[in-house]
Amino acid sequence: MRQTISAKLHSLLIALGLSLAGVAFANEPAKAPAGPAKPDAAKGEALYNAGDAKRGIAACMGCHGANGVSGGGTYPKLAGQHAAYTVKQLKDYKAGKERPNAIMAAFASMMTDEDMANVAAYLEKQTPGLGTAKNKASIELGQKIYRGGIASKQVAACAGCHAPNGAGIPAQYPRLAGQWAEYTEAQLVAYRQGDRKNSVQMTGIASRMSDAEIKAVSDYIAGLR
Ligand code: HEC
Ligand code: HEC
Repeated sequence: MRQTISAKLHSLLIALGLSLAGVAFANEPAKAPAGPAKPDAAKGEALYNAGDAKRGIAACMGCHGANGVSGGGTYPKLAGQHAAYTVKQLKDYKAGKERPNAIMAAFASMMTDEDMANVAAYLEKQTPGLGTAKNKASIELGQKIYRGGIASKQVAACAGCHAPNGAGIPAQYPRLAGQWAEYTEAQLVAYRQGDRKNSVQMTGIASRMSDAEIKAVSDYIAGLR
């Protein structure tokens, strides 16, 4: 009995595989592959500031602020971020699996690879926004975690990957310095809960941090420059 079911399943999978292969073949692009165009920051700036109503892309500026410096905690500052990281995030939003977010998925899903590269190139050139740490009571703990990690929990020092001044290391490690503490905290919680799963490294790190540790390091990062 079991064998017949698995045999049937097997042939079904083969048939499915064959038909999928057929679809892929039928969709093969006929034109010669063009190399990726050089990112155009001016086009990126235009899209950032005005969006593209025809394609349902809102002006990024409306939430992320003029020149990529947003005015409020839930909307991240994007200015000065490494282009490769920004492109990766937009692709992850578009794919919708590893960084699910209804707002950003709506815009990213309408963006082409070229749009993403252009906007990212524009943002990388903008001057990062400055922030300040606000919680005096936790600043020492935040600094300790950022610079030295939490040895007893095998949490690596943030500085090791994101650089001592929080500027990150292109292209692998994003800039964190000056980011709104509310946003950083929300991301660390999202990694910990598995809502954001586009970095195995960050999931491991955040899963071992307490709420108090996350809050302290997020506040400290806001003041880095
Ligand atoms: C309606 C408000 C809104 C608009 C408009 C908007 N965003 Fe966002 N964006 C958000 C929010 C909220 C987040 C944080 C989502 C999360 O928690 O993952 C975000 C996150 C991002 C991130 C991730 C930043 C990081 O540090 O990982 C990028 C990149 C980004 N947006 C780019 C854009 C671009 C480019 C546009 C314009 C095409 C745009 N956004 C338009 C609200 C918006
Ligand atoms: C082993 C390297 C490594 C260490 C150590 C590390 N990170 Fe990260 N972090 C990364 C990588 C890689 C990403 C980008 C993930 C991606 O591509 O989506 C990231 C992303 C982040 C983000 C998301 C930024 C954004 O704009 O959304 C935050 C916040 C963050 N890290 C905070 C921390 C903190 C706080 C620590 C220390 C407790 C830390 N990281 C330690 C590698 C590291």
